[in-house]
Amino acid sequence: MSFAAKFEAVDILFPGSADRGARGRMTMALAELDAGKTRNDIIGSTGIVVGAADVNLEVEQGEIFVLMGLSGSGKTTVLRALNGLNTISRGRITIRHGDELVDMSNPPPATLRRLRNQAVSMVFQQFALLPWRTVRRNVELGLELRKMKPAEMRASVDQWLDRVGLLQWADKHASELSGGMQQRVGLARALVTNPDILLMDEPFSALDPLIRNKLQDELLQLQRTVQKTIIFVTHDLDEALKIGNRIAIMKDGRVIQVGKPEDIVLRPATDYVAEFVAHMNPLTAIRAASLMRPIGALRAPDGAHHFNDNQDYALHLDNSGQLIALHRDGAAAPFHQPQPGVRCPQGSTGIVTGQHLLKDIVEIRQQTTRPVLVADNGRIVGCIGTTEILDALTQAGRADYRDNTAATN
Ligand SMILES: Nc1ncnc2c1ncn2[C@@H]1O[C@H](COP(=O)(O)OP(=O)(O)O)[C@@H](O)[C@H]1O
Ligand SMILES: [Mg+2]
Repeated sequence: MSFAAKFEAVDILFPGSADRGARGRMTMALAELDAGKTRNDIIGSTGIVVGAADVNLEVEQGEIFVLMGLSGSGKTTVLRALNGLNTISRGRITIRHGDELVDMSNPPPATLRRLRNQAVSMVFQQFALLPWRTVRRNVELGLELRKMKPAEMRASVDQWLDRVGLLQWADKHASELSGGMQQRVGLARALVTNPDILLMDEPFSALDPLIRNKLQDELLQLQRTVQKTIIFVTHDLDEALKIGNRIAIMKDGRVIQVGKPEDIVLRPATDYVAEFVAHMNPLTAIRAASLMRPIGALRAPDGAHHFNDNQDYALHLDNSGQLIALHRDGAAAPFHQPQPGVRCPQGSTGIVTGQHLLKDIVEIRQQTTRPVLVADNGRIVGCIGTTEILDALTQAGRADYRDNTAATN
């Protein structure tokens, strides 16, 4: 897998006023950064704001990479360096555009224009639509700088409006739409240019929680077909864990941890990250693989795997680990692979993948009234009973819970 964007030791400093001493202050600020001075020290002695310091990241093609951190931690600063809106003070950013590697350190204006036009597009928190234009004309904005035939332009605009579910709204004015719908227009406008990288700066933060949730789901659904490289900024760890293939946690302009959602949850690199994790919503953050009881722990001398959730369950597996039969209290019991949107039959046993979220498992447990099994490529790898669910709900974020799950996975 090759990278879509790469940051190497990137510092972004804001000089404040552009007076004659700015250059000297900049040199001084960089020296102070190297000497390990804090952002506060540096603004005190030089007046320079450190927006980002020593950022090293590699964003892979096709992944959703999340920048997460509190307000002021430098997320937007890093994002805006990718479309040249922020100047890099030191270090290097490289963006892949087709077969070309573009150095963002000091791009000529023509390169920058081409990049913004074709390679990188942005979705903003405040939607940034033109309220007097229709929905269709707002999406066309993304293509206006290209010399396209009107019919061709209309076809691609309408295709994207259809994909975000707004084709019937094409002739309405942007100002007539709800916030959630406006952001779908923002998304269509960004995607119609077919960018290599989609930048999303807190795109759902201005929306109500229910709408936000829905748009997150829609984005994930859309991503399954478009497979874009997306860099997504949020201050909300729950959102980061739900959306991100990988997450970079930022604090005071620095990246303090990069990892998959489960790395962040189970192995926070610092107390600061652990504090965030302690406040996450375990329902949407913890996945089956990290809360299940592994199958190895259940093997009994008779060759079957037994587990107890008030009743005695016996799992009979073939040599490759596929489930042959399930017995409850000695009698054969049905099992079932849950489908999205379909209720599981009561009394059956649901079989999920390691990627299923705790909230799905709670729902399946509720519908079936039975423990839930976890499979990996058809092989049964673990089970989840009430004990595991309660442990995950009550002890998520606690160091001893993390140590346990880290050891058993
Ligand atoms: N154009 C700018 N000029 C001066 N300071 C800036 C500018 N942009 C951002 N900053 C400062 O850089 C720091 C990081 O800001 P930002 O990247 O916007 O944080 P976030 O997006 O994580 O909330 C903040 O202290 C902010 O005030
Ligand atoms: Mg920001």
